[in-house]
Amino acid sequence: MPRKILVTSALPYANAPLHLGYILEATLTDVWVRFQKMRGNDCLYVCADDAHGTPVMISAQREGITPEQLVARSAAEHRRDLEGFLIGLDQFHSTHSSENRRLTEQLYLAERDRGYITRRSVRQAYDAQAGLFLPDRYVRGVCPRCQSPDQYGDSCEVCGSTYTPADLLEPRSVLTGSTPEWRDSEHLFFRLSAFDAMLRAYVASSSLQPAVRAKLDEWFAVGLSDWDISRDAPYFGIEIPDAPGKYFYVWFDAPIGYIASFEAWRNSHAAARSDDVSFDDYWRSDQRTELYHFIGKDISYFHTLFWPAVLHGAGLRRPTAVWAHGFLTIEGQKMSKSRGTFITARRYLDQLPPEPLRYYFAAKLGGGVEDIDFSLDDFLARTNSDLVGKLVNIASRCASFIERSGGRLSAALPEPALYEQFARQADAIAALYESREYAAAMRAIMELADEANRYIDRHKPWALAKDPAHAEQARAIATQGINFFRILMSYLAPVLPQMAQTAGGFLGVSFEDWSAVARPLLATQISPYRALARRLDPAAVAALIELPAPAPATAAATAGTLAAAKATPAVATGTSSAATGISTATTGTPAAATGTATGGTGGASAGATQPINIDEFARVDLRVARVERAELVEGSQKLLRLTVDLGSEQRTVFAGIRGAYQPEQLVGRLVVVVANLAPRKMRFGVSEGMVLAASDPRDERVLLLSADSGALPGMRVR
Ligand code: MSP
Ligand code: ZN
Repeated sequence: MPRKILVTSALPYANAPLHLGYILEATLTDVWVRFQKMRGNDCLYVCADDAHGTPVMISAQREGITPEQLVARSAAEHRRDLEGFLIGLDQFHSTHSSENRRLTEQLYLAERDRGYITRRSVRQAYDAQAGLFLPDRYVRGVCPRCQSPDQYGDSCEVCGSTYTPADLLEPRSVLTGSTPEWRDSEHLFFRLSAFDAMLRAYVASSSLQPAVRAKLDEWFAVGLSDWDISRDAPYFGIEIPDAPGKYFYVWFDAPIGYIASFEAWRNSHAAARSDDVSFDDYWRSDQRTELYHFIGKDISYFHTLFWPAVLHGAGLRRPTAVWAHGFLTIEGQKMSKSRGTFITARRYLDQLPPEPLRYYFAAKLGGGVEDIDFSLDDFLARTNSDLVGKLVNIASRCASFIERSGGRLSAALPEPALYEQFARQADAIAALYESREYAAAMRAIMELADEANRYIDRHKPWALAKDPAHAEQARAIATQGINFFRILMSYLAPVLPQMAQTAGGFLGVSFEDWSAVARPLLATQISPYRALARRLDPAAVAALIELPAPAPATAAATAGTLAAAKATPAVATGTSSAATGISTATTGTPAAATGTATGGTGGASAGATQPINIDEFARVDLRVARVERAELVEGSQKLLRLTVDLGSEQRTVFAGIRGAYQPEQLVGRLVVVVANLAPRKMRFGVSEGMVLAASDPRDERVLLLSADSGALPGMRVR
């Protein structure tokens, strides 16, 4: 009997673009769902936008659009990004929907009728100028504990203490800067405390991760307090049926969005299915179906306490399990806009294909809540070596020997026992997917890939094929290799659905059934081989990190003097387009990285630059320097790392001249350096200047400027 499984990812907020952290969560979920589908289980994956709340209302106001317009735009962007990452959702809905309104009202009324809702007055910060009650995060002021200025209304980032906005010294509204008033208003509370015993029993019986369980024990020890689920108008949300002018707090209706999305799916698809998919089977009873929520560890409280209690209080089933994951960091640090590491899904997809990232995430994800680091170098090296170097290599090495023999696989394998050994891993790898131990699964699969490559190395079909008498043997070896590839592709299909599709076309098979590889593929026709994956371009990977614009003063100085006219306005205003300009430099484009901004663009359009006066030119400190050391930069096809002597000091400068010069040609040479350029952080290190070169973008030639003999390091160039 196939299992009936309903799976969700957390609902992303509608007021922000998706970033790679969310893509980690979506990939974690999607791989599990695709795996379940391959196993023949009836697995549904639903999600939605989390549309309500003050931040959405304020964002829309700032843009001069309605919240509905903002939500609609976000939904379209989120959908497109999720599709871009091959997230195979059965339904992507919204909490701002008729289904969610109906369900939220229904669940609330059920809670109320069972006595789980109470009312009491709450004193809250009110911004009279903006005309609304302020969420805790919208009040800032001086920490009452350590006196640090500019802290949030709920906690201090300096000393870590938590408090309420009323405790803040010198509080002010983030929206208007005015001092908030304190107003009383009646709020509705969900009586979480009434569920203490139920939750303890539920938690003990369900298979939660140890870290989540430990957190729950802490929360139980502190005691469960009742939960404020109402907010006063104006609020973008669902109005409370028996409390006009009051709205459900966004976190009350958000998880109900899981049910709403399921209902939307049922309304549009269930009729087409032969078996019946009833609301009750999935949401009232837990006897015939399983329910799993994939979430980030930061929202555990909502999913392991509030949510099971709300469901239970309304007479519904509780989740089979809630699976939390850790946070994605970039180069070991929290994602940050100012460090350029807030990588949106869109920015990634504009540069790179989705599957390498899906594979990279899979290669790092375990079943726990540890944070996952995205290191650009590691990503580049790992995906190139595993996907192209190991996996695809097997198919591309073997395909030609089959093609030469009319495209038909041999009728028997030379080593059926070895095939068996590969195919027998199916259960072990399935168990790893099932328990979300993807990293271990990827390791096991790559070990098999190594073994497959060793098999081909051992039997050298290319040598056999030279002699027509051995052509049949070469074909048999290649048939064995192609069969290894098919097994590996099948094991990887949950992670690499697009590659599996392409490989399926090549082999004339589908990768929809996990157990199909039990029997080898023999005596069938395969299609001519097409590339299944390409090596990633290091420049495109480096460009994921978008360094912020330099401080305006420095930017203006360099822009005014050095950069081509085209770049001047963008750099000088310090907008995000300036940041894009800077990040081009890190990709090692010759013109930018060598600092040939004038020369580089000037060659073709000298007439287009704006005139500057002599004072402006004098602000550029050009110096003669001697190259002391020149080294290749690992991971970059374009850059050389130069150590230059400026007379009084040594500097490190990255120059995009690898294509034009061998490192050893440069040592001892005199070059011209911009000595007062603000240091620039690149992926490979900090560049403390620019080496001048002439270049022509039309043929990518780069020619270093040098000084006549007699010039000494440190001499000024004017
Ligand atoms: N809207 C709520 C969830 C409601 S679910 C009923 C929310 N939205 S969110 O957009 O802030 O986060 C959505 C999911 O992304 C959460 O599970 C969150 O933990 C996850 N992540 C947010 N930043 C993340 C990383 N840097 N890394 C990994 N996951 C991250 O919370
Ligand atoms: Zn403090």
